[in-house]
Amino acid sequence: MQGKTLLLGTTGQLGQAVQRAFSQAGKELVKELVTVGRDRCDFTQPDQIRQLVRNLQPQSIINCAAYTAVDRAESEPQLATTINATAPQILAEEAEQVGATLVHFSTDYVFDGHHHLPYTETDPPNPLGQYGKSKREGEQAILATCSQSLILRTSWVYGAYGHGNFVKTMLRLGKEREKLRVVEDQIGTPTWTGDLAALVTQLPPDFTGLYHYSNSGVASWYDFAVAIFAEARNLGLSFPLQQIIPIPTSEYPTAAQRPAYSVLSSQSLIQALDHIPPHWRSSLQKMLKNYFS
Ligand SMILES: NC(=O)c1ccc[n+]([C@@H]2O[C@H](COP(=O)([O-])OP(=O)(O)OC[C@H]3O[C@@H](n4cnc5c(N)ncnc54)[C@H](OP(=O)(O)O)[C@@H]3O)[C@@H](O)[C@H]2O)c1
Repeated sequence: MQGKTLLLGTTGQLGQAVQRAFSQAGKELVKELVTVGRDRCDFTQPDQIRQLVRNLQPQSIINCAAYTAVDRAESEPQLATTINATAPQILAEEAEQVGATLVHFSTDYVFDGHHHLPYTETDPPNPLGQYGKSKREGEQAILATCSQSLILRTSWVYGAYGHGNFVKTMLRLGKEREKLRVVEDQIGTPTWTGDLAALVTQLPPDFTGLYHYSNSGVASWYDFAVAIFAEARNLGLSFPLQQIIPIPTSEYPTAAQRPAYSVLSSQSLIQALDHIPPHWRSSLQKMLKNYFS
């Protein structure tokens, strides 16, 4: 990252992690960072997006804002599309106008999950739900509009900050219940915001295109839940929870259908940047250690 950087979505789990990574990366980088939340730039208000970019004239824009309520998107498809596709399109138009690089994030839920090998960037997307559909439309709009854009598709994001995620939900439920039932037939890769944010601060200025980036390794939600409690207990925490029961997706109905398999291959990015993502389990350890220290 070089020059003035506009960070959008600062209240979200990734937005906050990116902000922190900029602070950790050094004074020069953070001095040039302008953080903006929904209060100053509401993605349902195109004029606010346009005015912000025109007034600020940033060299880079990092967009961590998104509609991320996967199930609610089934009943609010228009709002999901406005925030995840229309707003990024406008952002891309404005970035192109001011000559800024646009870094944007997308999701493993653009895939239908019928694969048995990690998805690469050339595999055709086929989202199962409205969230994935809106994110795919956002990808297409950006790639067609902004010549200096980078889209990082990632998966199963969690971190210490923001409104909530699987790790925080598990830790809360583990304090309230003796038994937890967790889906075992959806396979993906948990990705820590700390790793994703560190990558963002290290991106070369001319790095553009569509890339997959997740932590390495593979897990089911059940595996992830078991690991969360094992690692938390290793840190000395105690829970009344006695049993985690693996269940099929059919026993946990949700409004949105999710891909059964959504492991992303980060090979292209590894080769391009010589950057190897840590294994999800070691990143989980790190996150929990930071969270409870
Ligand atoms: N979470 C995952 O498991 C996951 C997986 C794969 C990819 N991703 C992608 O990773 C990126 C970051 O996700 P995240 O997990 O950090 O999301 P998050 O924690 O839900 O944060 C979303 C951010 O978007 C902002 N936002 C929502 N509606 C807005 C609007 N109308 N105008 C302006 N800002 C608005 C939120 O602001 P408020 O605080 O005001 O609501 C918040 O800052 C997204 O592109 C997401 O699609 C996430």
